[in-house]
Amino acid sequence: MPRYLSGFANEQASEAIPGTLPEGQNAPQRHPRGLYTEQISGTAFTAPRGHNRRSWLYRIRPSAAHPAYRRRDNGLLRSAPFNEVEPPPNRLRWDPLPFPDAEADFVDGLTTIGGNGDAGLRCGIAVHVFRATRSMDERLFFDADGELLIVPEHGRLLLRTEFGEIEAGPGEIAMIPRGIKFAVLLPDGKARGWVCENYGELFRLPELGPIGANGLANPRDFLTPVAAFEDCEAHVEVVAKFAGNLWAAEFDHSPLDVVAWHGNYAPYKYDLSRFNTLGSVSFDHPDPSIFTVLTAPSEIPGTANCDFVIFPPRWMVAEHTFRPPWYHRNVMNEFMGLVKGVYDARGEGFVPGGMSLHNCMAGHGPDAVTYERASAAELRPVKIENTLAFMFEARFPIRPTRFALETPALQRDYDACWRDLPKRFAG
Ligand SMILES: [Fe+2]
Repeated sequence: MPRYLSGFANEQASEAIPGTLPEGQNAPQRHPRGLYTEQISGTAFTAPRGHNRRSWLYRIRPSAAHPAYRRRDNGLLRSAPFNEVEPPPNRLRWDPLPFPDAEADFVDGLTTIGGNGDAGLRCGIAVHVFRATRSMDERLFFDADGELLIVPEHGRLLLRTEFGEIEAGPGEIAMIPRGIKFAVLLPDGKARGWVCENYGELFRLPELGPIGANGLANPRDFLTPVAAFEDCEAHVEVVAKFAGNLWAAEFDHSPLDVVAWHGNYAPYKYDLSRFNTLGSVSFDHPDPSIFTVLTAPSEIPGTANCDFVIFPPRWMVAEHTFRPPWYHRNVMNEFMGLVKGVYDARGEGFVPGGMSLHNCMAGHGPDAVTYERASAAELRPVKIENTLAFMFEARFPIRPTRFALETPALQRDYDACWRDLPKRFAG
């Protein structure tokens, strides 16, 4: 079982061999055990201290030791700017994407649903589904275009990273920061889920305002791996995503060779059941921003490049209130996925692994079945159990890929779930 350090983006230090972290300085003239010193910066050198993210790595070979990368096929991976097809204003929903017939590892199985912004301009996101049936053997991946927020839905992932190992399964998330090399192993044989590739500012914990010092996701529940390394001279292919495309280089050694590290730029995981869910204890319901786990800000205060929002098990106690979300249209853009159970604002058609996209100003809300049920329900306290849905709530419209609009998994009759909302106005 992997071991972890606790805390969100705080200064951490870890060494797989005692005595390999330099004392009192970052870059000694010579490392006593012959390790190379290397810094990885996730923010500009001069980013404000509170948001500055970097780590120092002490490794067997520096990251510079590799031959040139060559282009390889992108498969079903797409990147911003997203202009394959004209984005429709329609509400879209998909059944779970099936696992591929041919064996595919995490990289092979990345399938882009949509995205926005511009990877080169460091704004926007991409939304991918991963469908992996094979562990990454002798292959690593890193993404220079953004950090990867991974949301498993089916099967666990063992992420072997430069900083150590993370295991994450359904109900948890993992974050691989921009540039960090990793392999995805499959303890359960196969795995599926989503990836939010965040081109923008790094995800961080949201401000809490009047909520106070505690609540929502608490920093100590974020777990960073302890240092682990391999001293391996074998052939390893490293796949890079850079400027929207996949490239590959043949290494003659494993770059998972970091013996010790310290800093605050590192992968992490978080168990979503640790989320301290808040809600109304009187009437009405707050906006879904109350369920924000992480936020990636934009340059406009209060307008995120992307919020990661969850709808976990919780008590519903509000009186005189239609308890599911009411009908709404938003300037923000909502990509939603269901990890497990049932989502309370939907009847049929939204099953674990399923996903929906409600873009800017698309009218949506409870389907007709849910409206009937919720408007007639007796409003005693009810606990919603066995459920976990999430949203990538994005600033810019999420422009679907050609694949997303042509796959048989797209529900062509999705609009029909709001068709049977009769006129109730009695004049
Ligand atoms: Fe919504």
